[in-house]
Amino acid sequence: MISFPQDFDLVTETVHVAELAFTITHPRSAEELIDETEYADDQRLPYWADLWPSGRALAAELVWRDIAGARVLELGAGLSLPSMVALARGARPLATDWYPVALAFARANAAAAGLGELDTLEVDWSCAPNELFARGPFDLIIGADVAYERRHAAQLAGLIGRVAAPSTSVLIADPRRPDANALVDALVESGWEYRRYERRIAQRPDEQGPVIYLHEFGPAAGGRAVP
Ligand SMILES: C[S@@+](CC[C@H](N)C(=O)[O-])C[C@H]1O[C@@H](n2cnc3c(N)ncnc32)[C@H](O)[C@@H]1O
Repeated sequence: MISFPQDFDLVTETVHVAELAFTITHPRSAEELIDETEYADDQRLPYWADLWPSGRALAAELVWRDIAGARVLELGAGLSLPSMVALARGARPLATDWYPVALAFARANAAAAGLGELDTLEVDWSCAPNELFARGPFDLIIGADVAYERRHAAQLAGLIGRVAAPSTSVLIADPRRPDANALVDALVESGWEYRRYERRIAQRPDEQGPVIYLHEFGPAAGGRAVP
């Protein structure tokens, strides 16, 4: 039986990703979940509870890419729509977030979509568990709207370097947040080959307009610095 975590005011919406449609259940309002004690501890905010435009853009990207069989790591997955698409496309995703409850919703939504069991792991970018490294390296590392605070660039670049193989690719969807530039710079400095694409998202609700950047990093011809 599929069960969603209780004690939330839930909404269910149908999300279209190219020709796929998912029924996603999540808390009605992330804002109402803000816990001041949590925030005082490590500035943790419950952004996982929303489905962000970058997550939709990244999910749409995975529909057409050749990822069948690939080991995919999603960082800051929240409701994990990209991981659900990866699962639907025959990849082997591991959805991670520092909020275990986000991962409980992700697993329940994947099961409700008939995708079976979505593999998840609680991961804080600043102190990732050994289990994550034991399960790597990954073929593809993905993240949507994960570089929105100053501290994130160093945390993510360090972690990505530790779970990547020489052949790994990285795909980050970013609603053009200023702090994402530092992540791009850090990965380029480590030797990743870099390309940027633009995607338009009709449903984008915020004031920055419909453009989402897709930052893609791949193995450079000369190899990367070993972390
Ligand atoms: C803006 S939300 C994006 C969620 C989802 N990727 C999407 O696009 O719908 C940022 C996500 O990063 C997660 N996050 C933030 N800091 C983190 C950290 N230090 N370790 C792991 N996850 C983190 C949040 O819990 C949240 O799920």
